[in-house]
Amino acid sequence: MPATQMKELLKHELGDLLYAEQLILKMLGTLTREVNNPEMKARVEEHAAETEEQIERLKRAFEAIGEKAKAEKCDAAVGLKAEHDSFKKEEKPSKPVLEAFDLGSSLRVEHYEIAGYRTAIAIAQVMGENEVVSLLNETLREEEAMASFIERNAVKALKLLAEQMEPRDVEFTPDEGGSQSKAKGGTAAKSASKSGTAAKSRTTAEKSSGAGKSGGTAAKKAPASRAKAKS
Ligand SMILES: [Fe+2]
Repeated sequence: MPATQMKELLKHELGDLLYAEQLILKMLGTLTREVNNPEMKARVEEHAAETEEQIERLKRAFEAIGEKAKAEKCDAAVGLKAEHDSFKKEEKPSKPVLEAFDLGSSLRVEHYEIAGYRTAIAIAQVMGENEVVSLLNETLREEEAMASFIERNAVKALKLLAEQMEPRDVEFTPDEGGSQSKAKGGTAAKSASKSGTAAKSRTTAEKSSGAGKSGGTAAKKAPASRAKAKS
């Protein structure tokens, strides 16, 4: 039957969000296994619990408009999950690369949800469905808080992950015009003393080449905990 009314549009949006949340709950379960950063992992687990609440709120929103809750396939959420899964399959990322990818994957999911909730809230507002507006606003605030957490912590988390990656992955310094080989060791050593990132890369490179003992200042600065992260 063709949709001809605003209520049918709202019902569709709620069904789309319900499907998306149910799928995202599964994705969050995967993320908690893939993410090792303790702060990030704890936040993902917290958000999974929030997502269970969000699913309940959507069911209550259906009730508020006198409809039975029904999930409708959300192709965008399916696509977000497929993007994550195909990256793993095609790129066969190392653990730190996958964890770094997951930051972007999570941020994409949160922004999709934010757009979906803002859309449904606007429709419910036009219809005067205040209970639906209130329920969806509560969820929207949680989604915005999660997106903002990822954005605030992404660079710090990526730096820690970069230290666990293969040397060639962390020696890239865009502000100095591209990747640096070991032949440019002087510059790499300078950036090592600034961030500690290249220090790890030199340590790893030296280990694999058996030249660890001649590591110099940069290698000595790499904390023991970073060496552990490589294993
Ligand atoms: Fe979310």
